[in-house]
Amino acid sequence: MNKVFATFLSAAMSISLLAGCAAGNKSASSDASSGGKDGKIIVGFSQVGAESEWRTANTKSIKDSAEADSQIELKFSDAQQKQENQIKAIRSFIAQKVDVIAFSPVVQTGFDTVLQEAKAANIPVILTDRAVDADPSLYKTMIGSDFVEEGRKAAKWMLDNVKTDKPVNIVELQGTVGSAPAIDRKAGFEEVIKDHANYKIIKSQTGDFTRAKGKEVMEAFLKSDGKNINVVYAHNDDMAIGAIQAIEEYGLKPGKDITIISIDGVKGAFEAMMDGKLNASIECNPLLGEQLMQAIKDVKAGKEVPKWIKTEEGIFDTTNAAKEFPNRKY
Ligand code: AHR
Repeated sequence: MNKVFATFLSAAMSISLLAGCAAGNKSASSDASSGGKDGKIIVGFSQVGAESEWRTANTKSIKDSAEADSQIELKFSDAQQKQENQIKAIRSFIAQKVDVIAFSPVVQTGFDTVLQEAKAANIPVILTDRAVDADPSLYKTMIGSDFVEEGRKAAKWMLDNVKTDKPVNIVELQGTVGSAPAIDRKAGFEEVIKDHANYKIIKSQTGDFTRAKGKEVMEAFLKSDGKNINVVYAHNDDMAIGAIQAIEEYGLKPGKDITIISIDGVKGAFEAMMDGKLNASIECNPLLGEQLMQAIKDVKAGKEVPKWIKTEEGIFDTTNAAKEFPNRKY
């Protein structure tokens, strides 16, 4: 009896070991295979939130491009601007064994552990829009803008258009604390103005990339320094539009009494430029959907992809806004 049981046990163990090997081999090669329904690539995407006009356009671009691509099935999750929600979503994608994880990180740090978990599960990760501070081997590529360069462009526009030897007092509306665009746009702007001693950032606070907070922070700036403010540098158009409302309610003329420069180039900013209330907007292109779908397919096919797929962008101001407006897609 014991002999029969021992033989059965050893046979069962061999079968399970073989099955284990097969499973191991499958996961080791899963970067180059697709596991979804009808052979579709299942993609888990964690979005930052819905904080701005830019973000709405970015979400639409990703959803539309996935919808139009017969090879992709998208699982979309909104992190509501909270890193903890984003980490939960990524863990849930890992548990669901999606083929690729893509996300636009709310902040720049604190993703190492979850990225290691994705790597251990052999699920490739693609970053869109924002970068992370992590070991680059933990993600395949990052598709998005050069935020430092956007900050530099904003400062150069100011130096070219607010030309004076007198003191220029700048107030800065920063994006979400700890996010790549807030860190980099600040750094790029400061890098350019550091050699021009009369241009000074006198106040700098976060408006979290939203209109409501941009307005609230600008109201506080006006209350303490109203008459002394010459320039508003907003890390995005939504906060600039909020600041415009605050300036009007305070009784000053935005775009005239105070020069306003922001980043994104969304339609709302073009309307404000055509009204003469916003002076310039540095473009940050949110239409990343098609590039993302292509990168997903390339990664799954085992192709090499560049570590940073950069977005090309322009500069718009009151001199060219009306001409460009009909061409704007977001
Ligand atoms: O990461 C891109 C930034 O995030 C955009 O400039 C801003 O509008 C958005 O919320």
